[in-house]
Amino acid sequence: MKLLVIGGGGREHALAWKLLQSSRPMRPIKVFIAPGNACTSLEDGIENLSITAIPELVEFARKESIAFTIVGPEAPLAAGIVDAFRAAGQKIFGPTRQAAQLEASKDFSKAFMLRHGIPTAAYATFSSPAEAHQYLEQKAAPIVIKADGLAGGKGVVVAMTLAEAHAAVDAMLVENSVGDAGPKIVIEDFLEGEEASFIVMADGRHVLPLATSQDHKRLKDGDQGPNTGGMGAYSPAPVITPTLHAKIMREVIHAAMNGMEKEGEGYTGFLYAGLMIAPDGSIKVLEFNCRMGDPEAEVIMLRLKSDLITLVEHALNGTLDKAEAEWDRRTALGVVMAAHGYPDSPRKGDVINGLAKLTTTSASEKDFYVFHAGTTLDEENRKEIVTAGGRVLCVTALADGVKLAQRRAYEIAEQIHFEGCQMRHDIGHWAIKHLRK
Ligand code: AMP
Ligand code: GLY
Repeated sequence: MKLLVIGGGGREHALAWKLLQSSRPMRPIKVFIAPGNACTSLEDGIENLSITAIPELVEFARKESIAFTIVGPEAPLAAGIVDAFRAAGQKIFGPTRQAAQLEASKDFSKAFMLRHGIPTAAYATFSSPAEAHQYLEQKAAPIVIKADGLAGGKGVVVAMTLAEAHAAVDAMLVENSVGDAGPKIVIEDFLEGEEASFIVMADGRHVLPLATSQDHKRLKDGDQGPNTGGMGAYSPAPVITPTLHAKIMREVIHAAMNGMEKEGEGYTGFLYAGLMIAPDGSIKVLEFNCRMGDPEAEVIMLRLKSDLITLVEHALNGTLDKAEAEWDRRTALGVVMAAHGYPDSPRKGDVINGLAKLTTTSASEKDFYVFHAGTTLDEENRKEIVTAGGRVLCVTALADGVKLAQRRAYEIAEQIHFEGCQMRHDIGHWAIKHLRK
């Protein structure tokens, strides 16, 4: 059975790794990954592909009789990769170009939430800088300025003062700081609380909720520094109690699924609701993503005990209501090791040491996995693994409870070295705080 994963980061590595573990009888399984990373190029059963253009990927899937394709990142989804595969009769798990607007346009997403009564912060949309400045004069800080389009995690400014907010408006609407993402902006009320990631698989009508998780978006310890794609994650997220879980399914997930169906097409693919949970237990959607999270996928896949191929087949056949996902009851915690200069200008080419000698001191060999993201083999002798992107590795460990998982992940991370590595030291701090309650 041949499968294809689109992307090359830690999320896609985790998806490919999990697909490969299938115990289904149609082994051997071969997973192609486009473009993949250094580790996927070395792993048995996985093969990197250098093609990235959508028509070429469709042709590859057809020629190789790929059973199905899974899409990792948002950009190909927003570019219509699902529509192109489906038009060619190829099976692919993801939302269509239209449905991917839920992530690709903040304005679309906010208006959609308003139309369908999905709880979210009050907002207004602007393309005129003068009108945006005028609106800010009636508001108070903190306040949040978001570029409408995809900006690779750089399109959100949480302004602590109105001066910062005015500067962000000018940067996005006048100085074009986020390029095509910024001809339109959303200005949104600031929300306080604890964030959580709630991700489901959807088949157009039914949903299968995946394990809950929590990301750490800021670069530095104590949630300080600039926003990043995510510096670490853990699963489960204790902030999501069973009562909250039911409420999120009702008010957010089913409301979004029904909304998409009413507006013309059922949502298929991973659907990710980024939530803010207020101290009083009320929930608001910060954003929808039309894909798995990264590094959420790494911790979720490490805990998934069910067969991912079977789950995706249910999703493709419209039978997710008959699917069940079984989870490792342990906590998974992933620490991202990022390159020097990340997130603004990550340096490439630093040699990564320590990967080959990683030792497991626990009885179980399977209590950690180092997922690769921005890594490649050095060009000269293709023997050394070097940095090739912002987030380089996600060191992910499984243990009984968040404290032990945290200790184990850092124990492994300390055995890996590269020049200029940036890593947070407090991944899991929110969950640890819950233990003290
Ligand atoms: P987004 O891409 O919309 O999820 O925003 C990125 C990050 O900015 C979120 O994960 C939050 O940490 C922060 N953020 C976004 N919107 C708000 C808001 N309305 N209030 C407070 N923080 C926010
Ligand atoms: N970790 C956040 C995201 O994938 O959007």
